Amino acid sequence: MDKILSNDIQKDHQEYVLTSWSKQLGILPKVMTKAEGVFFWDEEGRKYFDMSSQLVYTNVGHQHPKLLEAFKHIGEIPLSSPGFASASKSALAKKIIELAPNNMQKVFFTCGGAESNDHAIKIAKMVTGRYKIFSRYRSYHGATFGAGNLTGENRRLSAEPGIPGFVKFDIPYLYREAIDFSSEEQATEFYLKRLQQQILYEGPNTIAAIFIEPIPGSNGVIIPPKGYLEGVRTLCDEFGILMVCDEVMSGFGRTGKMFAVDHYDFEPDMITFAKGITSGYAPLGGVIVSNQIASYFDDHPLMTGLTYSGHTMCTQIGLETLKIYEEEKLIDNAYKVGKVLAERLEQLLSYSIVGEVRHLGLFAAVELVKDKTTREPLIQYGLDYGQDPVRLMNKFISMLLKKGFYTYSHESSIIIAPPLVITVDELNEAMDIFENVIQEFEKLINQPKFASV
Ligand SMILES: Cc1ncc(COP(=O)(O)O)c(C=O)c1O
Repeated sequence: MDKILSNDIQKDHQEYVLTSWSKQLGILPKVMTKAEGVFFWDEEGRKYFDMSSQLVYTNVGHQHPKLLEAFKHIGEIPLSSPGFASASKSALAKKIIELAPNNMQKVFFTCGGAESNDHAIKIAKMVTGRYKIFSRYRSYHGATFGAGNLTGENRRLSAEPGIPGFVKFDIPYLYREAIDFSSEEQATEFYLKRLQQQILYEGPNTIAAIFIEPIPGSNGVIIPPKGYLEGVRTLCDEFGILMVCDEVMSGFGRTGKMFAVDHYDFEPDMITFAKGITSGYAPLGGVIVSNQIASYFDDHPLMTGLTYSGHTMCTQIGLETLKIYEEEKLIDNAYKVGKVLAERLEQLLSYSIVGEVRHLGLFAAVELVKDKTTREPLIQYGLDYGQDPVRLMNKFISMLLKKGFYTYSHESSIIIAPPLVITVDELNEAMDIFENVIQEFEKLINQPKFASV
């Protein structure tokens, strides 16, 4: 693509497109002019490692030839309303149930992550006859009104005043916890006791569901302490509450297993998904429901729906994507390369600005601090890349970009979640860049000009 065309695209974007989560003035979005595997190129011809898989979805990599081919052969009649059966919708639902935990039975298809969570909220209310919905601080569940109200960070605020009965509880974020627990198990016990009390204070018979990202993604890949998720399951069972796991980001191989819940010893009542099901090549999401929930709707109407639920274009791309995961053994690759990523990340702890590294498979975050002893974060809570008046995170991200490492950050954490097709050599090359930027940034913020901010 020539430079003049790219400039026109950027100019028209600035003039006519509203960009999410941003002040509009001064935005100069990149134009992706070429992409392949773990790489993409911008309008200046600069090449980048896509180390966040865009918004953590390009799992099979950019421009996968089999998916491009699948688009050319969308064989089925593309439009049949949700009441019709179609070959790809039936086959995809069947396949997802085969891959999901054993207790899962049926899929309700949506067009993305937030819509999936909105529908899971409604399903939980229908099935239990209760109205309260618990979710956690430091979670992101989407931007629609329902999912926005589930969300436990400042991206919720534009959806407030919120929906009555939406209650937040604390996440075990041990690095930023005031209590110094002697073990993960002790932390688990503490948080579960607190949650149990909160359930009692709120009235257990009013609570329909607890929503949890098993591993919160955009809030910094926060790994739960041992036994925590299983403990939440036990509390849900005790009080007749449904447990919904939001696997929009963590699902489909990101963590080195098909679903993040597969790392643990429990089964949720619902799993919401999107992103990885089509690797982002088509807008598809859904809610996977347990056999108990599925049978509830045998003789109760499912009072929800979407024009594009199970759109055949998306379900065909979903099927093809799942085939690629299998044929190219991408989940195994995420596990294998994830081990190398883990080693590289742990080595970064020797730098004074690296507070904590968190990782599972190819799902990771590096949390930067101003002071390792006090754990003072690089930027304050509630500020984000682009909103930080001191622009420290902007600086860090732009240093990465200049060297060809593309990703994004949230507060003081940088997300590292490359496409699952990445090789060990590619990962090492990208992490060399990352480490080099850490070294340069460490020197930079120790200069008097930055030391005082
Ligand atoms: C865990 C989680 N849930 C839900 C969503 C919302 O998905 P979507 O943007 O497709 O609506 C996201 C998006 O990043 C997410 O990470």
